[in-house]
Amino acid sequence: MEDLVGAAAAVREKAYAPYSRFKVGAAVRGASGAVYQGCNVENVAYPEGTCAEAGAIAAMVAAGETRLTAVAVIADSPSPVPPCGGCRQKLAEFGLAEVPVTLATTDGARLETTIGALLPGSFSAAHMDRT
Ligand code: THU
Repeated sequence: MEDLVGAAAAVREKAYAPYSRFKVGAAVRGASGAVYQGCNVENVAYPEGTCAEAGAIAAMVAAGETRLTAVAVIADSPSPVPPCGGCRQKLAEFGLAEVPVTLATTDGARLETTIGALLPGSFSAAHMDRT
């Protein structure tokens, strides 16, 4: 997972966060093994900003992949930053519950979790199947 954390740390430098000044980097590994990176991109109309995880997922889908096998998120924070609720749902769309997620700080702290632990009882396509 450290290569994925490294990819997240590298793209974090490119984050556009002039309002919060809180730069976040994310990296996801696609089923092919390729790594996709994303950073947060804020907007003066605050709700229009996007999270690092969303950027990494968008890069993966744009490259033609729809399954992810590992996730890393990094920020310069006192403790590893957990993905927001919306990003948990976005990750669950493309990764199984057992997919490992490493939450990291630039100081070297690590918290290992999974998509399923981040979003227990998640809404899925199966909930819409009544046949
Ligand atoms: N942010 C992310 O990009 N990912 C997270 O997991 C937590 C929060 C961003 C959104 C916003 O640009 C800034 O961090 C402060 O909330």
